Amino acid sequence: MDSGKASDRIRWLQSELSRHARLYYEKDQPEIEDADYDALFRELQDLEARFPEFSTPDSPTRRVGSAPARQFAQVVHNVPMLSLQNAMDDSEFLAFDERVRKALGLQSVDYVVEPKIDGLSCEIVYRDGVLVQASTRGDGQVGEDITANVRTIKDVPQRLKALSFNAEPGLFDEVSPPLPELFEARGEIYMPTEPFRQMNQERLDAGMSAFANPRNAAAGSVRQLDPAVTASRPLRFFAYTVGRLDDREILSQRDLLRRLREHGFQVSSLIRPARGAAEVLDAFKRLGSERDSLPFEIDGAVVKVDSFELQRELGEISRSPRWAIALKFPPRREKTVVNRIVVQVGRTGVLTPVAELEPVKVGGVMVRRATLHNIQEIRRKDIRIGDVVEVQRAGDVIPEVVRPVISERDGNETIFNMPDRCPSCLEPVAGRQDEIAWRCTNISCPAQFREHVIHFASKRAMDIEGLGERMADLMIEAGLIHEISDIYALTVTQISALDRMGDKSAAKLVAAIEASKRRPLAALINALGISLVGETTARDLASNFGSLAALAAASTEDLRQVQDVGPIVATSIFDFFQSRRNLDLIERLRQAGLTMMNESAAGGGPFEGKSFVFTGSLQKMTRDKASDLVISLGGKVSGSVSRGTSFVVAGSDAGSKLAKARELGVAVISELDFLAMAGADA
Ligand code: IVH
Repeated sequence: MDSGKASDRIRWLQSELSRHARLYYEKDQPEIEDADYDALFRELQDLEARFPEFSTPDSPTRRVGSAPARQFAQVVHNVPMLSLQNAMDDSEFLAFDERVRKALGLQSVDYVVEPKIDGLSCEIVYRDGVLVQASTRGDGQVGEDITANVRTIKDVPQRLKALSFNAEPGLFDEVSPPLPELFEARGEIYMPTEPFRQMNQERLDAGMSAFANPRNAAAGSVRQLDPAVTASRPLRFFAYTVGRLDDREILSQRDLLRRLREHGFQVSSLIRPARGAAEVLDAFKRLGSERDSLPFEIDGAVVKVDSFELQRELGEISRSPRWAIALKFPPRREKTVVNRIVVQVGRTGVLTPVAELEPVKVGGVMVRRATLHNIQEIRRKDIRIGDVVEVQRAGDVIPEVVRPVISERDGNETIFNMPDRCPSCLEPVAGRQDEIAWRCTNISCPAQFREHVIHFASKRAMDIEGLGERMADLMIEAGLIHEISDIYALTVTQISALDRMGDKSAAKLVAAIEASKRRPLAALINALGISLVGETTARDLASNFGSLAALAAASTEDLRQVQDVGPIVATSIFDFFQSRRNLDLIERLRQAGLTMMNESAAGGGPFEGKSFVFTGSLQKMTRDKASDLVISLGGKVSGSVSRGTSFVVAGSDAGSKLAKARELGVAVISELDFLAMAGADA
C-alpha cells in the first residue's frame, strides 16, 4: 500500500471506529458485530504501526471506549480504567505469553484465568467502608456518575464487610485494617441470560424495541436518569479488580480476588489459577465447554499475570496493560441458506421481514428462522433470497443473519421487496421501500387480531389457560371471535366443535375464561395491549388509578405522575383511551362482567385512601411485593413524594425521597413499622 492510500484508509478507519465506539458506548445501539469492530481496529493498529506519520493523538487506538455522555456528572478515575488487548486464537495467546516471559526473563509464568463477562465495567468507591460513588469507564480517564443507579444492584454491597483478624500479627507483618479508608472496587455489571430474555419479551409485548444482547441491556439499564428504572432491571455485578491499592498484604490477583470476596463482593467461581501457557489454554478450553450452561454470557477469558510485582515490571502501553490479555471465543456462527423471506404482522400492525432458513445448529441450538428487523437492514447487509448466509445467535440468544457469503452467489438469488399488501388481510400497507417501519393500518387485520388474542389470554395478562396460538387460530378460522370481547361469549358447544377439542377440554377452557373476569386490574391493563405499556407499567398504573375508569379519564399530566411514565408513554396511554373503538371494547368487557378495579378499592381495606412511597432497599421483601401488599389492602403506591403522600417507607440507604419527605413533613416509617401496619409477619 502506498502512503497516499494508507493515509486515506487510516483516516476512514479512525472516523468509522469513533462512530462505532459512540454507538456502542454512548447509545448502547451498536451497528456492527464485536468481531467486525475488532477486525477494523486491528487493521488500523497495523496501518498506524507501518505509517506512524498518519497516526494522530486522538486515534481510537489510543483511546479507551468513548467520552462520557453529557447528561451524567463526570467522575475522574484516580487510576485510569484500562482496556485489554485481544487474542483471537491460541497462537495469539502463545505469542503474548512469549512476550511476557521474554520481558520478565522467566521460563514459565503463573497466570489467573477469569471468565470475560459480557457487560459493562464499573468502578465503585468506598470511603471508610461506605459506598460513596460509582462510575462507568467512560474514556478510561473520565467516566459517568451512576451512583444512584448502582446502589439498586443487589450484588453491590452498600457497606463493605469488615475483615476479621485470623492470626496474631508477627512483629514485622503488615496488617490490613478491618475497613480501608479508600477502596475502589472494579468489575462488570451484567444481565443474566434468562432475565434478559424475559425482559426483552416484556418489551416486545409492550411494543417497545428489544435490546440486541445482554450487554446492551445492562448498559442501557445502568445509564438511566431515573434509578427506579435501573432498580426494575435484573442487573448483577462481579468484582474482579480495584483502582488504587494501598494494602501491602495483597501481593497478587488471587489475593485481591480473595479480599474482594471477604469484603462482600460476588467474585466468579469460574476463576482458575494456571501455571504456564499450557494450563491457561486448558482452562480456556474448559471455560468454553461450560459456556453454554452458564446463566450469563461470556465472550472469552481474561488472562492476567498473577503476581503484582511482575505486573508492575511489565507495565502498560497507552491503552492496555502488558500483563493481561482477553482470549476471545470464536463467534458462534454457521452458514446456511435463506430459503424464503416472509413478512410477519405484529400486534400493532408492524411488518417484520423474517428469513426462513435451511435449519442449522448454531452453538447447540437449531435455528430455522431469523428476524431481518426491517427492509433497511436487509438492504444494508444486502441479503437476498437464495443467499448462503452466516447466521449467529446475537448476544448468543436471538438468531441473526450476519451477512451474505457473496462468493457463493450463482446469480439465482433474488432481491426482496416489501409487499404492497399486508400478507394477512391483503389491504394496502403504509411504508416506502427506503423506510424502516412498515405497517398494516387495517385495524381489523386478522394477523393483528390473532396477536391481540394471544397476548390478551397470555399468562401475565388475563391468564386464560388453553387459549394459546393454536386455539386462537382455530377460533378465528371458525369465525367464533371477531373481536376480543367475543371471547367472553364463547360456549362449550362452540368450542367442542373445533378440531381435536373434546367436551371436557372445552368446558375447562370456558371455566378459565370465566375465571379471568376476576383478574387484577394490572393484568387487565397489560392485556389491553396499550403501546409502550408492559407488565411493570401496568402494575404502576393500576395502583395509582385504582380503576380502569379513572385511568381512562386521566390527563397526560396525571399519567406523568406515575413512576416510569414519561411524556411519550403518557401520550400513548392517553391516545389509547381517546379511540372510540377501544372505549367500545372496554364497555363490552365491562358488560361481560370483568372486574375493572382493584379488588380492594372495590371493597375498601385498611389502607384505603393512604398512599405510600418506598425508598432505599428493603430487607424483608422486594418492592414489588411491598407494593402488591399495599394495593391488596386498598392503598396506593406512588413513585414520588408529594404533600399528598401518607407514608414514606424508608429502607436502608434511602436517598432524595427521604429528604423530600422530611422537607414536606410527610410521615417517615421504617420497613418494620410498615410490616406491622400491614399486619404482615416480619
Ligand atoms: S480486567 C486492566 N477482568 O473486558 C484490566 N476485565 O476488554 C482491565 N471484562 O473493560 C479489565 N471480564 O469491561 C477484566 N475478568 C475480567 C473481565 C473484564 C470482563 C471486561 C471489562 C473490560 C473489558 C476489556
